[in-house]
Amino acid sequence: MKLFEPFHVKNLDLKNRIVMPPMCIYSADSNGLVNDRHLVHYASRAVGGTGLIIVEATGVMPEGRITDRCLGIWEDAQIAGLRRLVDSCHQSGALVALQLNHAGRKCTARIDDRDDLISASPIAYDSDSPTPREMTGEDMQMVKAAFCEGARRAHEAGFDAIEVHGAHGFLVSSFLSPLTNHRTDEYGGSLKNRSRFLLELLTDLRRAWPEEKAISLRLSATDYLPGGISIEETIRLVKMVDSLIDLVHISSGGIAPVPVKVFPGYQVPLAQAVKKSCELPVIAVGAIRRSEMVEEILANGRADLVALGSELLRNPYWVGLEARKARIPYPWPVMYEGAFKRNL
Ligand SMILES: Cc1cc2nc3c(=O)[nH]c(=O)nc-3n(C[C@H](O)[C@H](O)[C@H](O)COP(=O)(O)O)c2cc1C
Repeated sequence: MKLFEPFHVKNLDLKNRIVMPPMCIYSADSNGLVNDRHLVHYASRAVGGTGLIIVEATGVMPEGRITDRCLGIWEDAQIAGLRRLVDSCHQSGALVALQLNHAGRKCTARIDDRDDLISASPIAYDSDSPTPREMTGEDMQMVKAAFCEGARRAHEAGFDAIEVHGAHGFLVSSFLSPLTNHRTDEYGGSLKNRSRFLLELLTDLRRAWPEEKAISLRLSATDYLPGGISIEETIRLVKMVDSLIDLVHISSGGIAPVPVKVFPGYQVPLAQAVKKSCELPVIAVGAIRRSEMVEEILANGRADLVALGSELLRNPYWVGLEARKARIPYPWPVMYEGAFKRNL
């Protein structure tokens, strides 16, 4: 089966095609530190056979967290816990990436100064949300520097890859979407201008993050709204940044509170469209649950890797159990081996 085939990109030698996408577990304290719950949560998915684990959106600045319970990577004191997390996953053969994030106007964490709520333009997420401040050139420098410092710390913690969160209406995507970027300077208007902040960020990250290690970019390929980001623009955007990244992870939505019709594989056509037009390896995600569907996506060349979000929350041992069903040998930890040999 294709899903058990290894995959190689840059430094990543993945033992299979299954990815755990970034999913906040809202379990950190207000210092953004890793605790036992994070260790158990991520290590279980590694024991269960996941090839690549992308750790949840982690704030590069305190005011860049989505919530007070999100992980942080804004100071060196946060490295040790992250290193334990990475080591605990490596022990079971999973590789580990960290999603670096700035939440922008979608930050709900307690922040001392409301002036710290920043975005491409002063547009609130919805009528209940506060209006952010339009970012200045100085803000942009500060955020780019914070991402680079986050990358340096991620390397010290032993992460195999980083993922830039450029999706779901957070700070980076607030620049990309015409719905949230009304700027009249060189960072607004045309796609080239709206991508400028991302391009500068990736250029800086490429210098801060070891050349041999992979960078993934997560994008919302459509805003599901007229005048918003479309798949055609996403393809053009990926082509503009493809020399700076190694993987692209195709999600959708999140820029505005619009209902999205979710059905099995609903985002796969978006991933497929990017895969067809661009050279980069693509991760597909979204309501994918069954191994037959994973196989269909991979064998038809619609994506290179498949992320199972909710399914891995329900079943951390998904890969190992699918291997058992397919009678493919699977290296269970020695203390569990007996249980998997039995047919009771
Ligand atoms: C509890 C939860 C937390 C999430 N947190 C993040 C996150 O930190 N970063 C991100 O890019 N997406 C996040 N997502 C979106 C998932 O990565 C994934 O794209 C989405 O759940 C669709 O996949 P699924 O249908 O397999 O769950 C989250 C989803 C869930 C359910």
